[in-house]
Amino acid sequence: MRILVTGGAGYIGSHTCLELLNSGHQVVVVDNLSNSSVEALKRVEQLTGQSIKFYQADIRDEKALSAIFAAEKVDAVIHFAGSKAVGESVAKPLFYYENNVSASGLLMQVMLQHQVKTLVFSSSATVYGEPVSSPIREDFAVHPESPYGRSKLMVEQIMSDLVVAQPDFSAISLRYFNPVGAHESGLIGEDPNGIPNNLMPFINQVAIGRRPYLSVFGDDYDTPDGTGVRDYIHVCDLASGHVKALETLHQNAGFHVFNLGTGQGVSVLEMVDAYRRISGQLIAYQVAPRRPGDIACYYGDPSLAAEKLGWKAERGLDQMVADSWKWQKLNPHGYTRRS
Ligand code: NAD
Ligand code: UD1
Repeated sequence: MRILVTGGAGYIGSHTCLELLNSGHQVVVVDNLSNSSVEALKRVEQLTGQSIKFYQADIRDEKALSAIFAAEKVDAVIHFAGSKAVGESVAKPLFYYENNVSASGLLMQVMLQHQVKTLVFSSSATVYGEPVSSPIREDFAVHPESPYGRSKLMVEQIMSDLVVAQPDFSAISLRYFNPVGAHESGLIGEDPNGIPNNLMPFINQVAIGRRPYLSVFGDDYDTPDGTGVRDYIHVCDLASGHVKALETLHQNAGFHVFNLGTGQGVSVLEMVDAYRRISGQLIAYQVAPRRPGDIACYYGDPSLAAEKLGWKAERGLDQMVADSWKWQKLNPHGYTRRS
């Protein structure tokens, strides 16, 4: 298939482009490079020996988007483009609704104008908010607690309404748990802008000496060691989940939602221990107050994706850490676009 990947130069997008190419698909990327570097795509080309058609464009630009669809004749879209920082979404809600919700609506409109009727969307486990229990299944109640989370849920609702009006449209929403890790080559990985908000990129920067210590946000949660528990998933497993979803559900009409996680909970201190053991680096940390809005424990039930897509995460915690550390060591300043 010929796939249009919005946000394909970003962290998850670049790994998915690689997986698509390795699975025999053709890739067209649209990205405005607001949070990424074209270097990531060059490295995907280097790793696969195949080329990617790249458009530096904003998906909010209807004219540009329409021209790309007219020129490229794609079979399906994987939609990663958007903004993803929870704190920023609280400070700039209108921007999040524009860049995540309005832009996604526009994308679907342009898809329909060009008879493209398969869409895979990057959603997030954050749509569940505080769950009644873990593992979380897809039929659990959703009550996102930030503009970011609500923007993801709104896009899912638009997709669900669209398939009613367009019964031949296939809309797939993938709710990611916590993506971490990097491709095993160490050539592509996560390159956060500024001080990382998320655990793994922060530990990476402590390990490489860019930050003196990790603040562990709370050690008095009701969890086995008192620190927060999450479902970390290797980004390459996540990437293969997209390819499976696309191959299984292309032209399979309707709205489909899947959790993509491992089903295993890992605490902050377990992550620090694994990182120390695998990297051999001293990861200094200090216990700090809880981060407002944090949930003690959540992890997913990935059995629906196993049953319907034949997909299962294959990489464990040690590989997540080893690949993160390799990427960090080989690229201490990321793709260096900002250094
Ligand atoms: P990322 O920032 O690395 O990738 C997003 C890409 O979209 C970037 O390359 C950015 O330049 C591009 N982009 C943003 N707005 C755009 C626009 N208007 N037009 C064109 N390009 C635009 O983020 P990521 O971690 O790869 O996340 C990809 C998707 O997955 C996002 O939608 C995010 O909300 C979702 N998601 C991410 C996580 C996570 O922890 N990384 C978890 C759950 C869901
Ligand atoms: C965050 C987002 C969530 C998003 C997810 C994607 C928030 C409130 N939520 O969730 O919407 O879908 O990332 O991966 O931002 N931690 C520390 N020190 C740090 C950083 C994190 O102790 O410097 C702890 C946190 O308290 C948490 C765990 O590490 O217990 C994971 O944190 P993080 O990587 O930010 O992910 P989430 O909180 O799950």
